[in-house]
Amino acid sequence: MYVYDDYDHKIINERVAQFRSQTERYLEGKLKEEEFLPLRLQNGLYVQRLAPMLRIAVPYGMLNSTQLRKLAHITRVYDKGYCHVTTRQNIQLNWPALEQVPDILAELAEVEMHAVQSSGNCIRNVTSDQFAGVAKDEVVDPRPYCEIVRQWSTFHPEFAFLPRKFKIAVSGTEEDRAAIYFHDIGLQLIKNEKGDIGFKVIVGGGLGRTPIIGSVVRDFLPEKDVLTYLEAILRVYNLNGRRDNKYKARIKILVKSMGVEAFAAAVEAQWEHVRDTQTRLTDKEISRAKSFFTEPAYDTIDEQQSLALLQAEAENNKAFARWLKQNVQDHRVDGYRSVTLSLKPVGIPPGDVSDKQLEAIADLADRYSFGEVRSTHEQNVVLADVKVSDLYDLWAALKQAGFATANIGTLTDMICCPGGDYCSLANAKSIPVAEELQREFDDLDYLYDLGDIDLNISGCMNACGHHHIGHIGILGVDKRGDEFYQVQLGGSQRYDAKLAKVLGPSFSRSEVSSVIRKIVETYVAQRIEGESFLSCYERIGIGAFKEQVYVKAS
Ligand code: HEM
Ligand code: SF4
Repeated sequence: MYVYDDYDHKIINERVAQFRSQTERYLEGKLKEEEFLPLRLQNGLYVQRLAPMLRIAVPYGMLNSTQLRKLAHITRVYDKGYCHVTTRQNIQLNWPALEQVPDILAELAEVEMHAVQSSGNCIRNVTSDQFAGVAKDEVVDPRPYCEIVRQWSTFHPEFAFLPRKFKIAVSGTEEDRAAIYFHDIGLQLIKNEKGDIGFKVIVGGGLGRTPIIGSVVRDFLPEKDVLTYLEAILRVYNLNGRRDNKYKARIKILVKSMGVEAFAAAVEAQWEHVRDTQTRLTDKEISRAKSFFTEPAYDTIDEQQSLALLQAEAENNKAFARWLKQNVQDHRVDGYRSVTLSLKPVGIPPGDVSDKQLEAIADLADRYSFGEVRSTHEQNVVLADVKVSDLYDLWAALKQAGFATANIGTLTDMICCPGGDYCSLANAKSIPVAEELQREFDDLDYLYDLGDIDLNISGCMNACGHHHIGHIGILGVDKRGDEFYQVQLGGSQRYDAKLAKVLGPSFSRSEVSSVIRKIVETYVAQRIEGESFLSCYERIGIGAFKEQVYVKAS
């Protein structure tokens, strides 16, 4: 994990002091609302329906146990004892008092955390695969590159006032777990025939009001060119992106209006000016970044022997066996696994974690996973390096702490934005819808029978809950002042990136559960042996679902 040097500490502390003075001046009436607005946004602070919302940056989702304990302390002292894991791996506080935000930032700085650039029109938190560095299917570990991009983009003066916010995601596997096709820039690490490391570069993806799948602008960019190429893309965007209309300001709109070829050509032309400047990476710089992500002290373990033991434990305990299958992921090192802690038990808003739970995770990370955890874009938490022989004990501890719901990848492992409960932009509530669906589908065996279903809920078209890319998406809409929900089908946030299609007229809150039930039942009735929800949908088409849902409803 990256460790701050003296320079990092100094600039973050200076930023805290600067924001403290800005906040004080605002509270004293010396700074106007509109003057304070860009200053607070640069420090992750929104003003929301009931209270400010503070978004804390979690670079590519990596946290250590000291940071978790600090977050627990902050939620307890300055908030209501819980926080929220977001779809961009960040942590959000929903109830901080404005006058206390500088103190929160000061406490975060003590553990090498901040909220810089977590909102505003700048390059936001760089996100990645939660299994980065440990995934069995990984081609290249993305973390050093994420860190390089993070260091380059944080405080980059040229890109601090872009036409609109800018999001970059990096993945090192074929199976995309970072939604790289739905970011302003998606980078997929690959190796060419010669074994050289490079990136497939995807630009202009995004959700919100105009959802677009990103386009590949380069099939292979050598690793050392990554920053200069990003610089070229961002410069083209910064110079040509629209600033007159907020809704047309994202890079996706620019790529669309120019056409991908013309956009790519403009980037290549711009790149000619910068490709050989000192921003080009050197072996030394890449090794420096890699030095922060060395192997933890893995034991040498006989995989077969530990598997035999595990099998015996699983045979004796059905609940443990279910959890193993659902929440535990293969690891590239023999005798180790990655474990996903479900933040989606019935009755808890997806992604919410309490102060006590943060402390429990910190303790478990220290005990079982080299003191580190990762947050996921699907709003869960991962212990990346758990010994197979510890899985049973860990499961028992997770059960106690409320994280052992064996629903990862199932319908109830849903993504959900805060919606109308907190967010002033919402058209409808989304948390109660999530909760109703969790209750409606609380039979694990039934969920397993349904297989992999991504259900994503957003409270408005800004799409924080990624409804466009769920296999099933739910979107809160406003109908003459009442809360309604539009259902969409067929999206995918994986390597086969797809945007969902609208099923038809929207539904009232009380209808949503039965509509989702009918959709699921249509799949069950129509699927052929072994067919996933998404494949079935693609084969039978949206009409088959429409018929079932609307025939009964009318
Ligand atoms: C409660 C405070 C929040 C506010 C005011 C807010 C606001 C917004 C807005 C205005 C957009 C649309 C941007 C655009 O059209 O370009 C957006 C997009 C987004 N938000 Fe939020 N959001 C909030 C919370 C969250 C949370 C909790 C999450 C994670 C669960 C989240 C994740 C995202 C993501 C991933 C997008 C990207 C959509 C895209 O790719 O264009 N936001 N948010
Ligand atoms: S999708 Fe809309 S309602 Fe949900 S958090 Fe984003 S802006 Fe708020």
